[in-house]
Amino acid sequence: MNRVLILNGVNLGRLGSREPLVYGSTTHAELAATCVETGAQLGLDVEVRQTDDEAQMIGWVHEAADAGLPVVLNSAAWSHYSYGLRDACAQLTAPLIEVHISQTHAREQFRHSSVISAVATATITGLGIEGYRAALRFLALG
Ligand code: DQA
Repeated sequence: MNRVLILNGVNLGRLGSREPLVYGSTTHAELAATCVETGAQLGLDVEVRQTDDEAQMIGWVHEAADAGLPVVLNSAAWSHYSYGLRDACAQLTAPLIEVHISQTHAREQFRHSSVISAVATATITGLGIEGYRAALRFLALG
């Protein structure tokens, strides 16, 4: 089965209790289980990771770059300012799908731009956790 890494950044481990009106009530563990199950249905071997440590996240992106793995990335607040993470993402050779649970363009001004988008294959914003499943469906097309 083709491997896919789903990488979730800072504060996303708090899903479920974090601002539920914005991010919904699904916990990170439930999100991970849904993604693994959806992946299996699509013939994808999905691994979901989350960290609040930017260096750890950059290390995981390097790992995906070295292994040629596709990545679904919600880089959370780092999306808006981390050139280090952006430069790591630029090294990926397989598709990179940027996902945001909320509709960032309808929120505060600082969320309107992402430094990741220019190096992403596509960006999905505002579909809730369904955005992750949409990303997997795209990656399953090969
Ligand atoms: C987010 C949007 C970001 O602006 C925010 O900092 C997050 C989550 C989203 O999934 O909607 O932490 O990436």
